[in-house]
Amino acid sequence: MPEGEFRQIGRNVSRVDGYEKVTGRARFGADLVYPGMLYAAVLRSDVSHGLLKRLNTAKAEAAPGVLAVLSSADIPGINGFGVVIQHQRVFVDDRVRYQGDGLAMVVAVSEQAAREALSLIEYRIEELPPLFDPEAALAPEAPLIHPDTGSNLIVHYPLRNGDVAQGFAASDVVLEREYRTGHQEHAYLEPEALVALPGEGRDELIVHGSIQNVYSLRRALARTLNLPLSRIRVIQSHMGGSFGGKDESMSLLACRAALAAHITGRPVRIVNQREESLVETYKRHPYRLRYKIGADRDGHLQAMEIDMLADGGAYASMSPFVTWRSLIQATGPYRVPHVKTDVRAVYTNNVYTGAMRGFGSPQVLFAQEQLMDELAEELGMSPYALRRLNGYRQGDLTASGQKLSRHRVSLQQVMRRASSAADYVARQRRYDKRQKGSRRRGIGMAISYRGCSLGAEGVDAPAAVVTVLTDGSVSLLSGLTENGQGLKTAYTQIVAEVLGLPLNRIRYLQPDTDYVADSGPTVASRSTLMGGSAVKDAAERVQRNIAAAVAAQLGVENPRDILFNDGHVYHAGQPEAAVSWEQAVVSAFAAGAELAAYGWYRAPSVTFDEETGLGEPYFTYVYGCHIAEVEVDTGTGKVDVLRVTAAHDVGRAINPLGVLGQIYGGVVQGAGYALMEEINLVDGVIRHRNLDEYLIPTSCDVPAITPVIIENPDSAGPWGAKSIGEPAFELTAPAIANAVAHATGRRLRELPLNLERVYLGQSLHAARPQRGSLAAGSEL
Ligand code: MOS
Repeated sequence: MPEGEFRQIGRNVSRVDGYEKVTGRARFGADLVYPGMLYAAVLRSDVSHGLLKRLNTAKAEAAPGVLAVLSSADIPGINGFGVVIQHQRVFVDDRVRYQGDGLAMVVAVSEQAAREALSLIEYRIEELPPLFDPEAALAPEAPLIHPDTGSNLIVHYPLRNGDVAQGFAASDVVLEREYRTGHQEHAYLEPEALVALPGEGRDELIVHGSIQNVYSLRRALARTLNLPLSRIRVIQSHMGGSFGGKDESMSLLACRAALAAHITGRPVRIVNQREESLVETYKRHPYRLRYKIGADRDGHLQAMEIDMLADGGAYASMSPFVTWRSLIQATGPYRVPHVKTDVRAVYTNNVYTGAMRGFGSPQVLFAQEQLMDELAEELGMSPYALRRLNGYRQGDLTASGQKLSRHRVSLQQVMRRASSAADYVARQRRYDKRQKGSRRRGIGMAISYRGCSLGAEGVDAPAAVVTVLTDGSVSLLSGLTENGQGLKTAYTQIVAEVLGLPLNRIRYLQPDTDYVADSGPTVASRSTLMGGSAVKDAAERVQRNIAAAVAAQLGVENPRDILFNDGHVYHAGQPEAAVSWEQAVVSAFAAGAELAAYGWYRAPSVTFDEETGLGEPYFTYVYGCHIAEVEVDTGTGKVDVLRVTAAHDVGRAINPLGVLGQIYGGVVQGAGYALMEEINLVDGVIRHRNLDEYLIPTSCDVPAITPVIIENPDSAGPWGAKSIGEPAFELTAPAIANAVAHATGRRLRELPLNLERVYLGQSLHAARPQRGSLAAGSEL
């Protein structure tokens, strides 16, 4: 086939796992049942900070139906796991760090028996002074949440590029602003659920359930149970959503269930109730963001000084990686000659925080993109013109000093496409005019650049296995997982494209750590880009083996001239002498060809200097632009989002329908983050105990969405595909915030923009004076 013509790539394909999902045959974590299965329920701390002085489980052990009551003393290995810092406890040993820490667990013949026995566990916690304010956590007299660390600082990343004093001196306008964002819950449909069961051999263990990252979970099990990785098998069931949330929270469930299976010798299931999920599992990090920005009279940015503080809560979890992404994206997609950024994450006794779709960028963009609008207003420019002027172009240098040259820097194109699809310029002018009545309309824009995959966070190399069976059907295994994002469908298309087959000849096998090497986590919008490349590599290896056999059979000299198309295999010059795919497979099998292949893809190299924040932290980037149009009822504070236009350069859309799904979902989740989602956390207690109180958007809240897919194929990634999962989320809240400010003339610098904040027209936190000044430095 000529370059650029595809059979499967770029085709709108419905989900290959749709059948089992719509028929209800798909088994999710809580559907898993094994003979002799036991049920576990966890007793959690009702104190935020304290020392566990006494734990007496005797009465609970004697309760009807109870087989065991387990606590930290029962752990055979190390009571500590974590992707970055291995200090998260399976059960509290001496110190309680948040309300949600597990003290002990009852294992019983039914879930009811397990839950009923919880109240029979006796314990005493000696309370310590708690720490809920991230600023206070850094004070020298603050109590230490992890005393061995000597400080409550989890991580601090500095970035130093140029000389900000010089940049501000060269500025005609300098603004200083402070923004705040709060916790966000993943709110997946399916709460955490899994089963652990003893394997048949000695010290063998199987964990099966709703698991986003099977390999990191396996490492957590190996540490806490003191088993070699090879004796632990982790199988992923269907997932009812994750968004980053079923990463380390599932390691916690797995360690507990596996400990119980190890001790009782029977399968043990844990299914969190929604209330437990809300209390126990990590949230999106709340941030306090201070920005100082300087520009000349024409709007050219001169300097940015940024200071961010993230509330990491009780355990480090992903804080070091989340805040690292914040560092890289801190200036937004703008040329800034002088940059000084500091990002810190601290321990508190609040619920811990970790991975969630966006991963440290949504907070930054909420601040940075409002700041650009505030600066535009100060300069008397349109927000779009200011972005056009300063937004990245081909060959520009980022704040980290990375030259954007190895991919097409499409930011300007993305902005143009979004603006024209949203009719931005005309609507902006219309809403600029005086509006009568209590309902005011506004339009707002936000743009971003985002590093694809893990970047300098860590090893970035996944695997896949493609096997051709003797009847010509194909099976596919991957080290990355389907979390609902549509990975199985994209990977199936990739194999079908390479082998010239219809999708239904390919069967996607259940992810299982026994069969594919550690491929890293399915995170960072890396599955199509990274895992897709590994799948393509595996399919191409098999294809080459079959091509060699067919070339020999047809007397063709160069197997590279053998093509695979439409279920046929043939020489490019003699399509009439084609053999069917099935015949080709039979010949290849008879010739002893290797019909299975292991595919591997390693990311291009990246660099990062911890001391300066400089380097090439990601090997490629994506660009996006959201434009939101809102109507605000100034009498009630209610914001109706009328339309969100979402333009994204995805490199190549393998399955455009899947890209649309990500955009629609990202916009709705982003609108929830913008307007309603808020964890009511008072003195360490989560007051919103279920989804009747923690509100997320319903179908009634979904705005009209205009997706715009832009394709500039990358040099990495299958046929140039990059990322869409997280880019689709990170831009919606700042676009809505800018639209609300445009409609009301009042700038709200704290999320969410709920009824109270919009009605009162101010942030509820006491903010520092917010001043702009046309004379450099005055009043600042
Ligand atoms: Mo994620 S937040 O699963 O990269």
